[in-house]
Amino acid sequence: MKIVVIGGTGLIGSKLVANLGARGHDAVAASPRSGVNAVTGEGLIAALAGADVVVDVANAPSWEPAAVLEFFERSSKNLVAAEAATNVRHHVALSIVGAERSPDNSYFRAKLAQENIVKSASVPYSIVRATQFFEFLGALAEMGVVGGRIVVPSAQFQPIASEDVADHLAEVATGQPLNGTIDIAGPERAPFNEFIARGVKASGDTRPVVGDPTGPYYGAPIDDTSLVPLGEARLGKTSLANWLTRR
Ligand SMILES: NC(=O)c1ccc[n+]([C@@H]2O[C@H](COP(=O)([O-])OP(=O)(O)OC[C@H]3O[C@@H](n4cnc5c(N)ncnc54)[C@H](OP(=O)(O)O)[C@@H]3O)[C@@H](O)[C@H]2O)c1
Repeated sequence: MKIVVIGGTGLIGSKLVANLGARGHDAVAASPRSGVNAVTGEGLIAALAGADVVVDVANAPSWEPAAVLEFFERSSKNLVAAEAATNVRHHVALSIVGAERSPDNSYFRAKLAQENIVKSASVPYSIVRATQFFEFLGALAEMGVVGGRIVVPSAQFQPIASEDVADHLAEVATGQPLNGTIDIAGPERAPFNEFIARGVKASGDTRPVVGDPTGPYYGAPIDDTSLVPLGEARLGKTSLANWLTRR
């Protein structure tokens, strides 16, 4: 199958292109670096010609509220229109677990807008909602720095390795459209601050990590039900301990 990966040069995209290639598919990375811009539409029709499936793992360069919303709305509208014009038969979008449960989080709102565009388009689709990636833990720790401490929420958390996200996406992209949504998450659930503390310690950082029961996530209030799957979820196989050992 020819599978075009929009954002195929990114963290998830590059792993997905490699994974699909190893499964014997013709996986093509498309992004501004290769002259394909989902926001302006530049190069889209040419890139999608002959494609069976499109997987959208692009990410916005700016997470400023208006900019991120515009990015996911415009890129999703352009993508589904180009797919309809080129007879693509399956659109796969990577979204976030709990996108509808944090209305004060502007990034989550933008992902929800993306999901709604995909759902209302004519192209059969699958939406894969992932929890936060292990690769993101360092940035989350830095965001919590207060003086000499790292203060982060203590809500339940279930992050996943990016290679496991790519593997689940490859499985979905090479199957029949779900015309629905699935959740994927890491194999372990624990308080947010525990994951951050394990990552911080493994990097040799001695700053204390403090869990704040009312601590927000990207400025939005969260609780134990905000960031983790509430129903059935497909789990990654990589534990944080294994991932940290490999790095
Ligand atoms: N971070 C998390 O924990 C998390 C959790 C769940 C879901 N997600 C979702 O996972 C997805 C992938 O994230 P990531 O961390 O892999 O992203 P990333 O590493 O930042 O990569 C972003 C990709 O998007 C491409 N891109 C940027 N602007 C584009 C445009 N106008 N048109 C087409 N492609 C464009 C980039 O291309 P160039 O290299 O050419 O610039 C790059 O390939 C995102 O949709 C995000 O919402 C993230």
